[in-house]
Amino acid sequence: MRFLALSTIEIPSQKYYTIPMIGIFGGAFDPPHKEHIAIAESIAKEFDLEKVVFLPSGNSPHKNLETPFAIRMQMLSAALEGHSFEIDPFEDAFDGPAYSYRVLPFLKEKYGDIAFIIGGDSLLALDRWREPQEIVKICPLIVIPRGTDTLAELRKAAAEHMRTKGGKIVIAEHTKGDNVSSSVARAKIALNMQTPEVLPSVQEIIKQHGLYQDYSDMIERVKGALTPERWHHTCGVVVSGLKINERIGLPREKVFVACLLHDCMKQSDRIHPGVPADAIGTKVLHAFNGAEEARIAFGIEDNEILDAIRYHTTGRAGMTVLDKLVYTADMVDEETRDFEGVEHLREVSYRDLDRGFMLCFKVCYDRLLATGKSIYPLSTECFNEYCKGV
Ligand SMILES: [Fe+2]
Ligand SMILES: [Fe+2]
Repeated sequence: MRFLALSTIEIPSQKYYTIPMIGIFGGAFDPPHKEHIAIAESIAKEFDLEKVVFLPSGNSPHKNLETPFAIRMQMLSAALEGHSFEIDPFEDAFDGPAYSYRVLPFLKEKYGDIAFIIGGDSLLALDRWREPQEIVKICPLIVIPRGTDTLAELRKAAAEHMRTKGGKIVIAEHTKGDNVSSSVARAKIALNMQTPEVLPSVQEIIKQHGLYQDYSDMIERVKGALTPERWHHTCGVVVSGLKINERIGLPREKVFVACLLHDCMKQSDRIHPGVPADAIGTKVLHAFNGAEEARIAFGIEDNEILDAIRYHTTGRAGMTVLDKLVYTADMVDEETRDFEGVEHLREVSYRDLDRGFMLCFKVCYDRLLATGKSIYPLSTECFNEYCKGV
């Protein structure tokens, strides 16, 4: 057993940990991407792990896994070819929901000393896991900061979990995720965008099996209704919306569909019955019109999605989380927005949607005020609720 200096979590008595030698790296790997490999390599080095075992999730209670286990195994095998990592298909045959607190004891028995590798987002949401106090007792957790996670917030969360639940939680200091996610990669593949984060060998398997094409009809119809520039923007809104959602955890399909359809009537002359009369002839019309189009032409019945489309331009008092997400993603879209200050807005929004939305809305509202253009009443109500005095 070796003793290694680890994270600098400032708990004097725990500054040096005894380190288990096998890192368990769980995930859906749907699809696996280059960052998974980079993280495994880096974490093995940083913590001097004997090996890293990839553990594709089976019957996960948290995720609506759509890609069959065998195909995810095929993709993962292709991604890890030439590396010394192992893949353990344990969860495929696991009886019942594969909650971590149920699975880890079996792995501990199989491998001996293990550490469970999780992302910073998982640490911050640990209390939403089933039996988190059991998980930390089974084995130490190694936390990989992701995207906009800061070491300070992760250390604080780790210290609090250890104080209330016990166990050992260490934060990687030399290994960091870069906001690459499988969820975003799936959307990009569906939207026919470039995915340099996915290895060509994995892309080949995706193509072979025609993965991630559930919304191909909707995508083609929206694309056909927009200019290439507007379509490019829509793709960017989907990507940014899913990135914002990494910390929010709304159902992925809602975010995807709301972002995809948000501007579906932007370039149409048709006016649906029922749109507010005072919106006709203004820039906000396409949002009301878009919600009607989504309902009538695309068959969307989910009012949360329809509202997020309806209010993505004006905002309103009483914004739902999805309303805020679509509004904000529309403003910070990674593909086409490049106005001064957008990078800051994007960074804040990926970390903290409420704050990001408030800043985005204020920027828009101030712009409107400065130009002297008339402001739609819903926008004033929204400003008064979220931005007044900011
Ligand atoms: Fe719009
Ligand atoms: Fe838009």
